[in-house]
Amino acid sequence: MKQLRIMSVFGTRPEAIKMCPLVRELASRPGIESLCCVTAQHRQMLDAVLEVFSLRPDWDLDIMTPRQTLSGITSKCLLGMDEAIDTLKPDMILVHGDTSTTFAGALSAYYHQVAVGHVEAGLRTYDKYAPFPEEMNRVLTSGIADMHFCPTAGNRENLIREGRTENLFVTGNTVIDALKTTVREDYRFSTEELNLLPYGKKKVILVTCHRRENYGEPMKNIMLALRQIAEERQDVELVYPVHLSPVVREAVDTYLRGAPRVHLIEPLPADEMHNLLARCYLVLTDSGGLQEEAPALGKPVLVLRRETERPEAVTAGTVKLAGVVQDDIVTMAERLICDKDAYEKMARAVNPYGDGNACRRIADAIEWRYGLRPERPADYEA
Ligand code: UD1
Ligand code: UDP
Repeated sequence: MKQLRIMSVFGTRPEAIKMCPLVRELASRPGIESLCCVTAQHRQMLDAVLEVFSLRPDWDLDIMTPRQTLSGITSKCLLGMDEAIDTLKPDMILVHGDTSTTFAGALSAYYHQVAVGHVEAGLRTYDKYAPFPEEMNRVLTSGIADMHFCPTAGNRENLIREGRTENLFVTGNTVIDALKTTVREDYRFSTEELNLLPYGKKKVILVTCHRRENYGEPMKNIMLALRQIAEERQDVELVYPVHLSPVVREAVDTYLRGAPRVHLIEPLPADEMHNLLARCYLVLTDSGGLQEEAPALGKPVLVLRRETERPEAVTAGTVKLAGVVQDDIVTMAERLICDKDAYEKMARAVNPYGDGNACRRIADAIEWRYGLRPERPADYEA
């Protein structure tokens, strides 16, 4: 019997972390041929993830250039995808989340009249410029998708409110599947500096920052806030794996480099990052993925943004919006550093984002849609 050809398309670090476990799960199904096409919107940061998950793509568009523009990414993805689809002839294309690769991958599938499954569907802020351009990427991708894999029931509700009522599946987030394979109590870092950090003795604060809408004034404020925290508090160590974006690096070099107790390091492989997350005291970040991972590990998160599309963790109490004003960030961080009760209230391990079986549910749903499985998979309930 002819196997169903499912082609996963991704290009950035977070998409790769969240899609590699799914590519593997699909490959384990006898009725499915699991193909993987990377756009390499991120080159080094993507390759680092592929290495951790030992995955070799079937197709590589290799589009990344320094300081790439949104139009540049989108147009290169579209042109490159033509040949990938014509050659690999998938029955369905899976895209993930809300990057430019996501939208261009879905649009390209549509131009070729190939079905689209959207993994991590239904996240919304309802502000089209925050996050930018992710909010519009995910709205447009929802418009194209034939199957919507929602991490949470709230994400499904968002799609229903928009009039999309068919083919919605609540699966949990595949990032929890990934986390289950990477975090180990006896983990030894290959980055020696991380083995030497004074976990337990001092408060190790994990920092990341990269969002486009934070470029300029907000990023400057964030860097100055980090500097102030590090200068004022001898009981903290800040660890910051700096994103490879030159815009981010310039802000770090201008406003943060040289501050005491700040460890500026290169981006970490996913397994190193997840284990550092498991050991740190607190997370300051504008990352989407970290807002999902940290609650599962009982680490409070202050989000360096004005909004979040991940309200579940805010409701659960482990994530708070700190905004992008220097004083606000410093005040909120200092409270969590000094006030044990405030810290303990946030540091409860809650996990609204999945039970580690999201990939199984997604693969089951695809099999069901194509008649390879009699029953629709049950929705994930938090
Ligand atoms: C992209 C996504 C964003 C996601 C983020 C995850 C878009 C528009 N943005 O943003 O949604 O949250 O990835 O990190 O899709 N670079 C390298 N090597 C790498 C990766 C990046 O040198 O491995 C540099 C390049 O100069 C590149 C720049 O970073 O031009 C920006 O990369 P880009 O993918 O355009 O934007 P991100 O801010 O990474
Ligand atoms: N991450 C990583 N190495 C790092 C920083 C982050 O592996 O140096 C992981 C992090 O644990 C999470 C994902 O990358 O799984 C988040 O990616 P990012 O913050 O770049 O993008 P976003 O989630 O905001 O789209």
